[in-house]
Amino acid sequence: MTKNIIKEINTLKKERNAVILAHYYTRPEVQDIADFVGDSLALAQQAAQTNADVILFAGVHFMAETAKILSPEKIVLIPDPEAGCSLADSCSAKEFKEFKRLHPNHLVISYVNTSADVKALTDICCTSSNALRIVENIPVEQPIIFAPDRNLGGYIKSITGRENMVLWDGACSVHEEFSIEKILELKKVHPAAKIVAHPECRAYILEIADFIGSTAAILEYCKDSLDDEFIVVTESGILHKLRLQSPLKSFIPAPPLDSTCGCNDCAYMKLVTLDKIRNSLLTLSPQVHVDSQIAKDAIRSIEAMLKS
Ligand code: 13P
Ligand code: SF4
Repeated sequence: MTKNIIKEINTLKKERNAVILAHYYTRPEVQDIADFVGDSLALAQQAAQTNADVILFAGVHFMAETAKILSPEKIVLIPDPEAGCSLADSCSAKEFKEFKRLHPNHLVISYVNTSADVKALTDICCTSSNALRIVENIPVEQPIIFAPDRNLGGYIKSITGRENMVLWDGACSVHEEFSIEKILELKKVHPAAKIVAHPECRAYILEIADFIGSTAAILEYCKDSLDDEFIVVTESGILHKLRLQSPLKSFIPAPPLDSTCGCNDCAYMKLVTLDKIRNSLLTLSPQVHVDSQIAKDAIRSIEAMLKS
């Protein structure tokens, strides 16, 4: 059955001249059929340079929206339009406009995990892979608004010591949910394991981490490390690639506070299934659309990131 769907997807992909871009948080079988799997930064870079006529985004809505802003002439498909993002939802454009008004003369750096409307109010976008470098490249006397993730923002503030950086009070519900008690219990059972954590986690989790990095940085660290056991404090989809690239190493998912299951899933990312991908390529729907004026304003901040 799965074999048939994969065959159909591959045929449709050729007929449509389509490319499938997938985030590392999607289901393993989705990552396996994608033309490119990456973190948020790599996916934005791919979306900007593909020659395909159709981009199918196996990820969440803000990622597909970014692809559409970068390639307005292309058809951009999102297999399940309900695949949103709690972090993007924590920052409405209306409230953000008011926040900007209260902080005049601030340069606005926003995570790509935002709506197109918020990107249109932003000077430079960033992802967890490049946020530190982007902030460090801004002259120290320039005040900054950093949005929407308070944990990533707080982490960068703690490294750079930038007091003139104000943070929007948003967060990712997946990364905020990890239980420090359960991680410390795991560490007792696996004392040699290194704790690797995404900077969207709370500060008290980052304090006990041996390594803090974006999805791509965690993958690289675990591949190159001489250690062979890791407690992974980020979304569980990353385990697929971690295990593929280092089959002899052991990766233990960190558990969330409020669950009997051992790992922490982003329910939005998991909405993308092979069935939905096949249907989306077949019907060329649902498509992502962005208002042309919003897209015109938003593209400046995305291109500023891609050029940086
Ligand atoms: P990165 O892909 O930048 O690591 O971000 C993680 C994330 O939460 C994506 O939604
Ligand atoms: Fe959004 Fe968090 Fe899911 Fe990433 S993991 S898509 S930030 S809700």
